[in-house]
Amino acid sequence: MASALDRLTYAARQTARIAWYAGHYAAGRRLLKPMPKPDFPVGPTPSRQEMTAAMRAAFQREWQDIRAGLFPAPRPLSVDPADLVRRSVLYFRDLPQVDARRHGAADELPPGEQGDGLPDYYRQNFHFQSDGWLSHRSARLYDIQVETLFTGAADLMRRRAMKPVAEWLADRSQRGLTGLDVGCGTGRLLAFLHGAWPGMKFTGLDLSPPYLAEARRLIGPTARVKLVEGAAERLPFDDASRDLVVSSFLLHELPKEVRARALAEMARVVKPDGLVVIVDSIQKGDRPGWDGLLDLFPHHFHEPYYAEYADGSLGAWGEAAGLTLAASEHAFLSKVVAFARP
Ligand SMILES: C[S@@+](CC[C@H](N)C(=O)[O-])C[C@H]1O[C@@H](n2cnc3c(N)ncnc32)[C@H](O)[C@@H]1O
Repeated sequence: MASALDRLTYAARQTARIAWYAGHYAAGRRLLKPMPKPDFPVGPTPSRQEMTAAMRAAFQREWQDIRAGLFPAPRPLSVDPADLVRRSVLYFRDLPQVDARRHGAADELPPGEQGDGLPDYYRQNFHFQSDGWLSHRSARLYDIQVETLFTGAADLMRRRAMKPVAEWLADRSQRGLTGLDVGCGTGRLLAFLHGAWPGMKFTGLDLSPPYLAEARRLIGPTARVKLVEGAAERLPFDDASRDLVVSSFLLHELPKEVRARALAEMARVVKPDGLVVIVDSIQKGDRPGWDGLLDLFPHHFHEPYYAEYADGSLGAWGEAAGLTLAASEHAFLSKVVAFARP
């Protein structure tokens, strides 16, 4: 049972994170040149107060779930202040290059060779980030860039996946169950899942070796979390071999056909009676007064496949892949959609 001290610790930790990343966001806005006015129609956008209220509501829901005993309060994943400062310095040093790309400097290809087996759709400077997904520098920068963009709520949005997982686990023993995170990136969702359910065996899969190396550094040398290089659209796992499949912030990065194949692969590898949980951006109509943010996002952050993603429906795509929609929640700028495997 969570105590008053637990509540205070949770609130203090989350407030400190928000202050740190909101500070980066505010400083970044001063350093970045404003983007030109969009020359395409932009839907309605929320006020800052509405956005703050939605973020606060998502934190409150997480706390209620912790208090209800669904999962433990998250431990901080980064406890070394020197590391936080080093990443902050790296972030601000890189910002001028990101800004130059935002304003039309060449979209240089990340390091590597064409023909090295990586798909063309993948070999881009997503988010205008230096080196795309393809260097250790990019892997070290990714988390601070994403947390800054979401003013400290990115981990929270990932962790909302834990609610449907906890509910699904309620009548199961976690020991021996297998989980897979598709497009695990730097491993943050995996780290939270492993922290909450250490009896499960997890695998994280990603196309980027540097991101997988960063995930290993974050999670540490446990045999309970394996990390595998591979493609979401060709999962190197047997049919019906995983009890749980999760994926956070991957699907909006994929072209339509690859996204459909990735979802079909998740449906293929999950066991009957298993669970698939997707966390990704809200889509048009989820929060109607926010649709303009979804119009602006791909323009400000180089998201080549996002506009098509935002016009669709995660729930419908999962069902088309053979899954059954089980639960859905909006959490700030994200949504969590859980599917059963009939
Ligand atoms: C936006 S990041 C999300 C990472 C992580 N899940 C998170 O919550 O931050 C997208 C990740 O998907 C990976 N990725 C992109 N396309 C992929 C594919 N076809 N197969 C596997 N991983 C892919 C990238 O390398 C990157 O690590």
